[in-house]
Amino acid sequence: MDKLLITGGSPLQGEVRISGSKNAALPILASTLLTETPTLIKNVPHLRDVTTMVGLLGHMGVEVTIDDRLNVQVDTSSIHSYSAPYDLVKTMRASVLVLGPLLARFGHADVSLPGGCAIGSRPVNLHIQGLRQMGAEINVENGYIHARAKRLQGTVLYLDLVTVTGTENLMMAAALAEGTTVLENAAKEPEVVDLAHCLNSMGAKIQGAGTDTIEIQGVEHLHGTEYVVLPDRIETGTYLVAAAMTGGQVRVKQADPASLDAVLAKLRETGAQIQIGADWIELNMAGRRPTAVDIYTAPHPAFPTDMQAQFCALNAVAQGTGTVTETVFENRFMHIQELQRLGADIRLEGNTAICTGVEQLFGAPVMATDLRASASLVLAALVAKGDTLVDRIYHLDRGYECMEEKLMQLGCEVRRVP
Ligand code: EPU
Repeated sequence: MDKLLITGGSPLQGEVRISGSKNAALPILASTLLTETPTLIKNVPHLRDVTTMVGLLGHMGVEVTIDDRLNVQVDTSSIHSYSAPYDLVKTMRASVLVLGPLLARFGHADVSLPGGCAIGSRPVNLHIQGLRQMGAEINVENGYIHARAKRLQGTVLYLDLVTVTGTENLMMAAALAEGTTVLENAAKEPEVVDLAHCLNSMGAKIQGAGTDTIEIQGVEHLHGTEYVVLPDRIETGTYLVAAAMTGGQVRVKQADPASLDAVLAKLRETGAQIQIGADWIELNMAGRRPTAVDIYTAPHPAFPTDMQAQFCALNAVAQGTGTVTETVFENRFMHIQELQRLGADIRLEGNTAICTGVEQLFGAPVMATDLRASASLVLAALVAKGDTLVDRIYHLDRGYECMEEKLMQLGCEVRRVP
């Protein structure tokens, strides 16, 4: 199993290109199941989760070809199976995103229940409930969601909780339903908006994505399209936090500054100077130590839960005391104990991590537990004195494209070791 060996102490300097968004690419790949003619998706990041989604489509008989510039061509004309088996779903919960499209187009889907997760219980009851309200017959048996429908019927769906993939699954299902579907209390994340734009370019009629209420007028058919995935806001934020923690100066390119308002506001609070262009952000911390900040995670446009762990790492070396309160997932603090192994002064009180910054962290072997927790350990390692060996980095490979290459390009000492 690969590990990352990181020698801390170098401030990040230079430019880095941001990859396409993982959490937009995954639903967009699933949405190709709705189309009758081939689709070309560009700016797809080369990540393990994307490979899993491509594998899942391949398992169904969908023809997927990827060129060396990571353009993905999908042709669903040879599909022969409507199932997502446990072996694939257990490695990536986002596999459940095929449920809505399969049911809407083929009237048939057998999708494994995702099962346990390192950051919380993460049920998919709202996905199932919404599809039932649209007329689907759904039985959950033997660990599988067995869903059948003639043609889904548009209706008004009120989501009890804001759910990102739930909103995406129901929006995709509604795109081919009969009549109009209204999703109330919909997720407003930029990835939901990107999926809506992609679906509209396939011929869907979706309005209101990015607000609480999304209206989807069902159509009979969707056609293939050519679509460019938006830049990854969490990858962007992660490199900016790394630059702030190390007292560096970094310009992220091919980014989407508009999707990062809450994160940039917090980075400014740490004392970082930030400049923004149409598709770039430059952060300058020039040899200074960041000030600790208070974070409260909530659905977009509030501060994203996927950036919480990285700010825990920042607070660990900042001046003063900061609190990080997690409200989206119930168990997303696995990184705290590992940060403590590097010398961080953090204590957990319920769903709040209270952190008093220390002058110096010290390298140690640490264990990655989930994707964003892994990122926080890498960031802490970049400022720790000596060597840190980050184990189980397959979590990182799920969501950060070429992370060690990008960090090396920014002047860090990082090496992948077997
Ligand atoms: N929830 C339910 N029932 C449901 C659906 C959700 O109770 O049917 C609860 C969840 O348990 C959670 C809350 O609602 O407490 C929000 O979960 P949400 O459904 O929004 O999360 P998700 O769609 O499973 C996506 C991202 C996550 C990101 C969250 C929150 C993808 C593929 N995943 O997950 O990304 O943390 O939204 O923004 O889009 C990551 O990239 O590291 C990651 C975990």
